Amino acid sequence: MEKASIAVMVSGSGTNLQALIDAQASGIIKSGEIKLVISNNAGAFALERAKKAGIKTATILKKDFTSQEDFERKIIKTLEENGIDLIILAGFMSILSEKFTSHFEKRIINVHPSLIPSFCGEGFYGLRVHKAALEKGVKVTGATVHFVNEIPDGGEIIMQKCVDVMEGDTPEILQKRVMCEAEWKILPLSAEKICKKITEEK
Ligand code: GAR
Repeated sequence: MEKASIAVMVSGSGTNLQALIDAQASGIIKSGEIKLVISNNAGAFALERAKKAGIKTATILKKDFTSQEDFERKIIKTLEENGIDLIILAGFMSILSEKFTSHFEKRIINVHPSLIPSFCGEGFYGLRVHKAALEKGVKVTGATVHFVNEIPDGGEIIMQKCVDVMEGDTPEILQKRVMCEAEWKILPLSAEKICKKITEEK
């Protein structure tokens, strides 16, 4: 069966990208293949991870375009030129417009470091999410993989996993535990689930 072509969009260190690359190597992801990594940050370490794995990269910077629309048009063109079936946002720190998300309905997934609907939406990203969880005093947090639509972190939920909050946690310690115990597991599993569905529809 023809595999689904995956693009991963990143902005930072790319540990979730690494989890996807490793899952492809170990056979957890078998219905899809990572064909392209797009970064909106030229200094992202994720780009090094992609190059090391032999994956094609594209760096598309917002500052090189006069509008969000033009920036997104370039991303869409790059995705279409590479025949991408599934877009995975893995620490992509830029909100995409409705025009973009509706162009790829049910073809974009995102990993978020909390149990949605807690600690999500505009302004909740990266360490800020864990800081908010600790300030609230929740005893359990986790990660969510969901489809991306026009509402930030508002699309249909695909998978979630709980992680315990421990006495003495800092945002950094909690972030690492959530990544290790939840994100790096449910993102590859969700990617395989959606790729399998796409290949069955092809
Ligand atoms: C991850 O924790 C991811 O869930 C989060 O940013 C981090 C990226 O790390 N994403 C968001 O907060 C999106 N709202 P990574 O670059 O090492 O994968």
